[in-house]
Amino acid sequence: MITISVCNHKGGTGKTTSSINLSAALALSGLNVLVVDLDPQGFLTRMVGVGEPDAAESSTILFDPDAKEGRDLPIVETGSFDLMPSSSALSAGMRKLTRPVDVLWLKEFVERDAPSLGYDVLLFDTAAAVTVYSLNALTASDHVVIPVLPEYQPVVGAEQTWQTAQMVRKRLNPGLDEPSFLLTMVDGRKQNHRSYRAYMREKYGAHVMRQIIRTCTTLSISHGPGGTVYSRNAHARGAVDYASAAEELMVRIGHRDQASPETESATEAMGV
Ligand SMILES: Nc1ncnc2c1ncn2[C@@H]1O[C@H](COP(=O)(O)OP(=O)(O)OP(=O)(O)O)[C@@H](O)[C@H]1O
Ligand SMILES: [Mg+2]
Repeated sequence: MITISVCNHKGGTGKTTSSINLSAALALSGLNVLVVDLDPQGFLTRMVGVGEPDAAESSTILFDPDAKEGRDLPIVETGSFDLMPSSSALSAGMRKLTRPVDVLWLKEFVERDAPSLGYDVLLFDTAAAVTVYSLNALTASDHVVIPVLPEYQPVVGAEQTWQTAQMVRKRLNPGLDEPSFLLTMVDGRKQNHRSYRAYMREKYGAHVMRQIIRTCTTLSISHGPGGTVYSRNAHARGAVDYASAAEELMVRIGHRDQASPETESATEAMGV
């Protein structure tokens, strides 16, 4: 089972869009994917057309042993990947998670409960801040994707997230790989986008994914039932970009060989 956190401490850098569409592309390539929405704002949950559930039917359950005991986990099908939805109760719940061991809840879920669920990939979408939930996600993951819009504030946020990931590797989770930066909402006509892309590649080298996500209107309007770019227009450039990024990610993390894919890639499944 592959565990991936999608994180950037800066808001609006494409975390949720990347979580949805990387997961959809991985599902399209034949993998069983569970997305856990850890953002109290719950945009991922809304964008795939799932209403806000009661707190007990949301990801809050993972941080409350009494609520979880003897109950089925709250997992809904979206038609592409499965989802453990978010609830705004995550905000209030955060106030109770103040002990050092409270960063270990998700790790316990990943090690104890998740294997019997039969997923190939577990992906955590996180909020734009260093919270107990994002630390839980990084502590429970083997990989972290940092979506970064090539502009000043998102790049600074991405670098801070890189530092947080290094801290988590050192103190909490030595199994966490070096992060992969995914450039998002890239507009090749903008000089500052070209400059920040060059800056990221120069400074972080192979940690910057080769595939970029270009600006794409279909991505920004993909919400409602289905909620992925593939349910709207599988040939939109956002669909093609995320399919290639998902493929690259699987190669980077060693799940797939470049030459001989273990499963059909999303680009092949889409016929592009
Ligand atoms: N490649 C893209 N092209 C055009 N619009 C995009 C693209 N990626 C994301 N967007 C839009 O940019 C906005 C921010 O994206 P998103 O919600 O994915 O960011 P986020 O990092 O999850 O934000 P937050 O920090 O608030 O959780 C959204 O309106 C989304 O539809
Ligand atoms: Mg988001």
